[in-house]
Amino acid sequence: MSGVVTYEDLRIEADRIFVAFEQEFKRFERFVVDRQDPDSMARVLEQLNSERYSTVDAKTDLQKLVDLRNKYTAKKSEWAVAKKQIGRIADSQERAQAGQYLLFRDLKINELLDYAKVTLDQVVASLQAERETVDLTIPGRRPRPGHLHPITLMRERIEDIFVSLGYAVEDDREIETDFYNFDALNVPEGHPARDPQDTFYTTDGFALRSQTSTVQIHAMQRRGAPVRMIAPGRVFRRDTPDPTHNPMFFQVEGLCVDRGITMAHLKGTLAEFVHRLFGPETRTRFRPSYFPFTEPSAEVDYSCFNCGGKGCRICKGSGWIELGGSGMVHPNVLRAANVNPEEFTGFAFGLGIDRTCARIYQLDDIRLLFENDVRFLEQFR
Ligand code: FA5
Repeated sequence: MSGVVTYEDLRIEADRIFVAFEQEFKRFERFVVDRQDPDSMARVLEQLNSERYSTVDAKTDLQKLVDLRNKYTAKKSEWAVAKKQIGRIADSQERAQAGQYLLFRDLKINELLDYAKVTLDQVVASLQAERETVDLTIPGRRPRPGHLHPITLMRERIEDIFVSLGYAVEDDREIETDFYNFDALNVPEGHPARDPQDTFYTTDGFALRSQTSTVQIHAMQRRGAPVRMIAPGRVFRRDTPDPTHNPMFFQVEGLCVDRGITMAHLKGTLAEFVHRLFGPETRTRFRPSYFPFTEPSAEVDYSCFNCGGKGCRICKGSGWIELGGSGMVHPNVLRAANVNPEEFTGFAFGLGIDRTCARIYQLDDIRLLFENDVRFLEQFR
């Protein structure tokens, strides 16, 4: 707008801006509640409810309303520029007329924006109150507290016993190199003892450990000798699942290396262990066996905790239950872990946690432990 301004020019300009405002304001019209009518707000809420209007929608609308107010009333808005033109109207009577006209439009714009804002604020408050209302008559949901898995319970019982005997608990990697899983344990490539412990291999030369005996080497390399530790953990083998086999299961390794350690220490330690786990009347039995990493080697059995050795369903009539493998650490293993076999001797053992757990809880099938059936697991709190 330039040159001399008349009342008529300004009125046309004001009307143009006002019509544009009204069009943009249309989306907020439903928020302009009639303050004289007490039911007006309730009707707006009911309508919004049927449209599933949410607090998020309301907050978006509130922001749009702020934008609209800025567009039409801010200092540099078209409307503000138009108002400034009043001073340029030469005729004083026309000037007064224009002032009144613009004031009238100005009040209307602000009134509409204010009403919409107040209503929208009430809508937000009522939506929030609705969401936060607590219905005390709805029955509560009983929390279902979880509990440890039976394998974990078993592992913790075993750990407690060995910790009280002065053993450290070691945790180590499940992905191994051939060196730790076999070579360092006196099982060189091509050795037949690799076959029953075939495992799962990665494409870049690593393998999932097939026994916790790997931790013997790591522990001796880390701590040197003397050392006394147990290593509970997950191991993997290419075994076909059946009632006593899983391709993934748990073992506890035990290692004690010091000056003057003999087979008698091994027998005493495992005898003490089964006394504490199954009761003081439990007996142990050592059967000659073969493991490449121990010499001599022995399988360890304990007298059945259920029948005391008479023979029952749990021990399959033999009176004995197998605990695991054991023996005196082979000098080659000590050497592989930089321990001098002329100075130190030691014993080691490896127990299967899953099978021990299955015996204690009288399970016919260790696969039940990994089916994740809550009805089954709930029995072992
Ligand atoms: C070993 O793994 C030797 N590392 C144990 C050892 C350690 C001997 C230290 C000497 C010195 P073996 O393969 O027998 O041994 O496994 C030990 C125990 O793991 C078994 O007694 C059994 O309880 C458990 N076990 C073996 N294979 C499976 C399987 N597929 N599923 C569940 N448990 C298994």
